[in-house]
Amino acid sequence: MKTRITEMFGIEHPIIQGGMHFVGFAEMAAAVSNAGGLGIITGLTQRTPDDLAKEIARCREMTDKPFGVNLTFLPSVNTPDYPGYVKAIIEGGVKAVETAGNNPAKWLPALKEADIKVIHKCTSVRHSLKAESIGCDAVSVDGFECGGHPGEDDVGNWVLLPRAAEELKIPFVASGGVGNGAQLVAALAMGADGINMGTRFIATKEAPVHQNVKDAIVAASELDTRLVMRPLRNTERVLTNAGVERLLQKEKELGANIKFEDIIEEVAGVYPKIMIEGDMDVGAWSCGMVAGLIHDIPTCKELIDRIMSEADQIIRQRLAKFAA
Ligand SMILES: Cc1cc2nc3c(=O)[nH]c(=O)nc-3n(C[C@H](O)[C@H](O)[C@H](O)COP(=O)(O)O)c2cc1C
Repeated sequence: MKTRITEMFGIEHPIIQGGMHFVGFAEMAAAVSNAGGLGIITGLTQRTPDDLAKEIARCREMTDKPFGVNLTFLPSVNTPDYPGYVKAIIEGGVKAVETAGNNPAKWLPALKEADIKVIHKCTSVRHSLKAESIGCDAVSVDGFECGGHPGEDDVGNWVLLPRAAEELKIPFVASGGVGNGAQLVAALAMGADGINMGTRFIATKEAPVHQNVKDAIVAASELDTRLVMRPLRNTERVLTNAGVERLLQKEKELGANIKFEDIIEEVAGVYPKIMIEGDMDVGAWSCGMVAGLIHDIPTCKELIDRIMSEADQIIRQRLAKFAA
């Protein structure tokens, strides 16, 4: 299938694996890229720009296909060495960057100079238009269903995607809640040029995370995610567990007076404990409502091939019937 997104990134299928903290290692990105999608290494999971440079080199040993790097710009106590990370990306010869969080305008000149395509993740039409106006090449439109940070507007993809299509000139992919071929077709119908998936890619054979994480996603239904940190206007959709319920109880008790320090135990430094050690009750980790549609743990190739053949079949058989 050819779309503006496959052409832009030089990939076979219009499927991107979004950056994921402590999931987006070289193994994950290479498996998705080898299967014909666009795999993405999560920049900030690497502790230093030098570590990122090594991770990019490791990924290149595992695939000769295009892959990207995610750069997340979030307010933090210790600002990461962004110039160093950008340098590692450019010198590593990476040609695709997924930006997320704050406005990436400051980094665009250097990335463009290096002929890198930038796809910015946005949770609203307003931010998507901003990304277009500052020169981003594409947008990943992340609906309210998504795992991770859905923003504060709470607009689901059923409305957000066609709204993005009304306004945007640059191509966009549908992100949040996507896990199968019917949704790819629906996304295309609503004006997207592809899909971005996070949670679905964690439940694959190659995802370099503890088996407990994959099993938890398969066991979960669409009712098992929770929104945390709403009172801090830093909303995150996570899979429920004992740590998350404790966090929500604190939010209820402390109300508007809550501070980040009050919940630090449940949100800071939990990713390695979950993703590497498989300690599932330790705290909040991003997971989307699409968990309800995830029933198995295929390889990335099996998953992507299945999505593409499902999409093809729906377009040729089911939809063709309605065209008459
Ligand atoms: C475990 C996990 C960690 C994530 N970490 C990041 C991150 O570090 N930076 C980022 O931009 N997005 C992150 N995301 C969001 C994904 O890139 C993607 O936008 C989102 O998962 C799409 O929704 P879905 O999970 O319903 O497919 C994360 C998502 C998950 C599930």
